[in-house]
Parts: sequence; structure tokens; C-alpha cells
Amino acid sequence: MADGASAGNVRGSVLVVGAGIAGIQAAMDLADSGFKVHLVERNPSIGGSMVQLDKTFPTNDCSMCIVSPKLVEASRHNNIELHTYTEIESFSGSPGAFEVTLREKARSVDAEKCTGCGNCVAACPVRQVVRVQDVYQQEPSEELRETDEIVDSCGAEREALIHILQKTNEHFGYLPEAALRRIAMRLDISYSEVYGTASFYKAFSLEPKGDHTIQVCMGTACHVRGAGVVLEEFEKRLGVEAGGTTDDRTFTLETVNCLGACALGPIVVVDGEYHGNMAMGKVSKLIDVYAKKGTSR
Ligand code: FES
Repeated sequence: MADGASAGNVRGSVLVVGAGIAGIQAAMDLADSGFKVHLVERNPSIGGSMVQLDKTFPTNDCSMCIVSPKLVEASRHNNIELHTYTEIESFSGSPGAFEVTLREKARSVDAEKCTGCGNCVAACPVRQVVRVQDVYQQEPSEELRETDEIVDSCGAEREALIHILQKTNEHFGYLPEAALRRIAMRLDISYSEVYGTASFYKAFSLEPKGDHTIQVCMGTACHVRGAGVVLEEFEKRLGVEAGGTTDDRTFTLETVNCLGACALGPIVVVDGEYHGNMAMGKVSKLIDVYAKKGTSR
């Protein structure tokens, strides 16, 4: 790309399109190598999606801690010229001699005088709403919309937390992390409080459950009548240990302590239906019956 603005020992000029984290890093590497870099970003500010994230996969590092120094470095680098709120209108030429025409959108503020105080945004509520919606508010997923409906139906008050968790667990079959975070946000309480409550009660599950829940009673009366052998047979047939869910999410196998029907022991409950006097030989048939029933949700 021909460039008349390059200075000093600059080797040539390069155009980088998009000032997300990848574009910024590419621009800095090229600028450090001695190229004059034109970094073009269609949004009013640089940083891309990463500045909107809390944590970064897979290390869980703070996103802003990673990206902030790069934003500062890119904006101050002598070999980088930022073109924000700008889009490419046309380009022509061949390798080594490209010509690019950029269109810079009107900011409605004098960039020379702007100090970034934000007073103009406060004085112009329409622009503020548009900016916030466009840049920071993403359409909630189906899961979050359904969580919102549950929260709203329960009154969206901190006192309703357990009720909300009950309904969410019932709706999804477990408590997805995204739903717990949404509940915390909606009730204006910490995630750790919501998680602490969700993990305290055995009635809630933090893992997806199967379509059918099999509970084998391991209370004393059932245990002495052979519940251990029955449990082992379920584990063998389903290929999961107690507490686990089959890979196809058809069955979840659990143990419980005394269901109050000791005379019928060993007893197994499937989806709330009691099956007394269980024996190893009945396990396979029971699994087949519920597998054929399909989902219970
Ligand atoms: S010990 Fe199993 S029902 Fe009581």
C-alpha cells in the first residue's frame, strides 16, 4: 500500500482490518517490525468482543487484564495509525501497491477536543441507548429467556431464591450454570450465594439428569435384604456408578436412604413409581420397561 505518511526507518505500510484482540496483536507485531500500520475498526472503539468478556477460556484469566495493556500500546504506538468508526469503501491494485479508500463515519463530536468525559452521552439519551444495545447487549439465549420467565413468575425477589431454583431445576431437569448466573444477576445477589444454595440441597442437581431417575434404597432394611446386589446389577447394566447418568441421558442412577416402605425391601423407585421386592433378576426387565417409555419430561 502506498503511504506518504510513513516516517523514519519505516519499511512500508500495511492495512489491518478489524481491531479485535487478533487485529491489535497483528498490528503491534507488524509495527514493531518497522511497518507503518493502518488499523481499521468499524466500531467507535477498539478491543472487539474480548472487552465484553469476564473470563477467557481455557485459563479463566481476566479478559480486561489481558487486553487493556494492548489497547494502550496500540493507541500509543508510533507506527500504528488508528482508523476507528471507519470502513473500507474500496480497494484496488496488486501485492505491493494496493490503494484503499476508507470512509470514516461522523462521530458528531470534535475528536480533537473530546476528552472522553462522557457528558455528551448523558446529554443525548437516544444515542446512549443505541450504543449500549448495539455494543454490549447481546440477545439472551433461549435458556436465559426461559430462566427470566421463571424468575419473573416467582417475583424476582431474593426471598424467592429457593422457589426459583425449584422451578428452574424442574424445567431444565437440573440447574445449568448459565441459569444460576442469570438468577444471581436478576436477584442482584452474588453467584456464590446462588451456587451455595443450589449445591446445599440434594433436591437440586448441578449436572444434567437422565430422562428417568432410578433410586435404589440402601437403607438398613433394604440393605440386609440384598439391595447391594441390586444396585450392582443396575450399575453393570447401565454402565454407570450410583450418582451417574448414562451417556445417552436416558437414566440417572441414585441411591437413597429408607423410603419408608421397608417391608417391601429391597425397593427401587423409578420416576416416583415404587418397585418392591426387587431382585437382581428383575433389574434388566425394569430398565427395558422405562427405556421404552421414552422421556418423562
Ligand atoms: S430401608 Fe429401604 S425402604 Fe426403608
